[in-house]
Amino acid sequence: MLRHASINDIPAIGKIINDCAESGLMLHRSMADLYENMRDFHVVIEDHKVVGVCGLKIVWASMAEVYALAVAPEYRGRGLGRQLVLSVIDEAEELGLPKLMTLTYEKEFFARLGFETVDRQSLPLKVWSECVRCPKNQACDEVAMVRTLETPENTVPAEPPRPVQVDVPVQLTVYAGQHRQNVD
Ligand SMILES: CC(C)(COP(=O)(O)OP(=O)(O)OC[C@H]1O[C@@H](n2cnc3c(N)ncnc32)[C@H](O)[C@@H]1OP(=O)(O)O)[C@@H](O)C(=O)NCCC(=O)NCCS
Repeated sequence: MLRHASINDIPAIGKIINDCAESGLMLHRSMADLYENMRDFHVVIEDHKVVGVCGLKIVWASMAEVYALAVAPEYRGRGLGRQLVLSVIDEAEELGLPKLMTLTYEKEFFARLGFETVDRQSLPLKVWSECVRCPKNQACDEVAMVRTLETPENTVPAEPPRPVQVDVPVQLTVYAGQHRQNVD
């Protein structure tokens, strides 16, 4: 059975993801991170327990990311990973997202689901926000893949606007031991 994750699923989701992280297949995720992002996750239930998970993270109006895809080792090869990704694709289409991307070592698996390899530099900058906490940051060997969804392209630019520098007069309060002084 496939469904959205609920709070009680998080310990099992954490175990599946972090067991894969131990093998270097994906990023480790803290329990706080998992609870905070719980609404991203789809789970598959077999034998009355969570045996697989996949996340859908919205990056920008033009794209969402499929992430944290993992099936417990003893349940692999039964089509559950495929079902999880298809479930995430359905949700992305319902939300009106035109494209899905993933960063993966499982190129063949995602190719069978309609994802195509793209130049990593073509992805929105925001995608790389998690890379800073990845041990492979400077030597990333994941493949970037994108699947176009059956939703019309929207008109929002592919990238968020860059922040502009604005000069704001600041009153900085400096605390030094018991002394306090204001600096303009
Ligand atoms: C990748 C993973 C989620 C696949 O889950 P799964 O349930 O075993 O996959 P499925 O049984 O749904 O396989 C779907 C199809 O992909 C193929 N496939 C699955 N894993 C594959 C692999 N490693 N290489 C090539 N093809 C693969 C299957 O043969 C099947 O082919 P079909 O379309 O002809 O039937 C699972 O192996 C896993 O959890 N791996 C560890 C974590 C990981 O690497 N996650 C990906 C990070 S992005």
